[in-house]
Amino acid sequence: MNEVGKEILIAKTDIEKRVRELADTISRDYEGRELILIGILKGAFVFMADLVRQLRIPCQVDFVRLASYGTVTVSTGNIAISKDIETSIEGRDVLVVEDIVDTGLTLSALVERLKKRDPHSLKVCVFLDKKDRRKVPFEAEYVGFNIPDRFVVGYGLDFNEMYRFLPDICVIGEN
Ligand code: IMP
Repeated sequence: MNEVGKEILIAKTDIEKRVRELADTISRDYEGRELILIGILKGAFVFMADLVRQLRIPCQVDFVRLASYGTVTVSTGNIAISKDIETSIEGRDVLVVEDIVDTGLTLSALVERLKKRDPHSLKVCVFLDKKDRRKVPFEAEYVGFNIPDRFVVGYGLDFNEMYRFLPDICVIGEN
């Protein structure tokens, strides 16, 4: 494994620029409406904090935590909600905020679960997308960056709970 922090895939300044662009697009799309953002813990906390401060529409925030039964790097899609949202989303405009979509199993399962609660609309905003890794079809409406099949950390993303604090997106591993 290489030294973490050495190979920067996406630098802090590019992240800041892209988050502003995403927030502009979302603010335009939801103009005149009120949004509820649902962040998926723990990985989305940094992205969500940055995104929400750039939005120009009124919004509320809530968080969901999923207990995954996969290993750290391999998702099974076998999700259980270990901390549910505390707000009713019935009739509301909902934007799910996630750090990364990989196989798509987690988000597709969560979206199905949340749709059963009858939101007025439900869209997904992911910071990173590893399209090559999909096991189920899944497209987020808002994507920060498409990235290759590399394991990345930083900006909220972890490896065994480490490296979430790094301000850049960095690559670890040999692939
Ligand atoms: P999936 O889309 O169901 O495969 O799972 C996405 C989840 O896998 C994310 O929320 C992350 O927790 C984790 N994950 C996938 N790829 C990476 C990565 O490169 N770095 C850190 N976590 C990752």
